[in-house]
Amino acid sequence: MPETAAAATTSSSLETPLAHAAAVAVPDANDLAGRFLLAPNPEAASEAERVQALTDLHFGSVFTDHMAHARWTRGVGWTDHEITAYGDLTLSPAAAVLHYGQEIFEGIKAYRHADGSIWTFRPRYNAARLNISARRMALPELPEEDFIASLVDLVRADGHWVPSGEGESLYLRPFVFASAAFLGVRAADVVDYYVIASPSGAYFTGGLKPISIWVSQNFHRAGRGGTGFAKTGGNYASSLLPQQEAAAKGCDQVCFLDDVTERNLEELGGMNIMVVDHDGTVRTPHLTGTILEGSTRSAIIRLLIDSGRHVVEDTISLEGLLSDIESGRVREVFACGTAAVVVPLGRLKGEGFDVTIEGSAVTSEIHDRLTGIQYGTYEDPHNWMYRLA
Ligand code: COI
Repeated sequence: MPETAAAATTSSSLETPLAHAAAVAVPDANDLAGRFLLAPNPEAASEAERVQALTDLHFGSVFTDHMAHARWTRGVGWTDHEITAYGDLTLSPAAAVLHYGQEIFEGIKAYRHADGSIWTFRPRYNAARLNISARRMALPELPEEDFIASLVDLVRADGHWVPSGEGESLYLRPFVFASAAFLGVRAADVVDYYVIASPSGAYFTGGLKPISIWVSQNFHRAGRGGTGFAKTGGNYASSLLPQQEAAAKGCDQVCFLDDVTERNLEELGGMNIMVVDHDGTVRTPHLTGTILEGSTRSAIIRLLIDSGRHVVEDTISLEGLLSDIESGRVREVFACGTAAVVVPLGRLKGEGFDVTIEGSAVTSEIHDRLTGIQYGTYEDPHNWMYRLA
């Protein structure tokens, strides 16, 4: 029996607690603005420096003039909400994050529309997911509307840094870490929240050019009961050696298999994965607790269903995928995430196999649809876009 026929389910990612949390309306940005008080950077970049910094953008290496910050102290809660000069942090060498990795983060973008306005995509999704990660990592939750207010206030301070070139955006990186100076292994009593902003171009410089994947059979990204579903630095740190292995094998990215059967696809180092069958069905690994519930993954599932496609969240075995690619049953494979958006996978390589995938029509279609919504050139039927400024 073909492997997906046994357990084909209707998509369930649209019904998760995170999906429900993300659907709650967000107050207008004007009503949230001002929660983070602006202390302007006296050494902000000059117009000429900024224009220079915004030419030939890549991912994550240029930063704006300001950052958002708030501090949490046990027994007190969150205080000191501010927009302050972007700059180095002062941290005790005993800060718990440096020793035990008690840290979480998010990734979300601000897009400039043709009329100059600045928008973001489903901010409550990221706000709610930050708190899911916080609970797993024994960090304090941040009120969702404070999270969104921090984006509003930071983007209003640094709006002139939002680029307008094709595929460009202001990548926002909210993060929370244990700053308490204490070497005991317990949840920290002092925690800091920051948001930094990075004008960025495409994550993969080739745009929609297919990338190659090394399927890691020696390493796993996450295990059952672990932190795979949380957006915490350790998951990404554990992907770095396998990523080096992938590069040594001539591949762009690494893909992980589950740690129990060691047979089933999970996700790439920082992206979810989707498979397009010859009949147009799109399959993606189901949420097992070891993969990230991606915002892009969730939006794509919704858009595919809207366009009448059958979407199946299920177990996808490597063995089944390889034989389906060979037989022509699988036509396309693509990866998706906030930073990378949507990118076709053109080659899957691992110990004992090396296959190519030619198709990318559905991948391009979904890329164009999603980015059209994000950049304001397509209708936004689910009200995902939120005006920041
Ligand atoms: C994102 O897509 O925003 C992420 O956080 C993934 C990271 C590897 C860039």
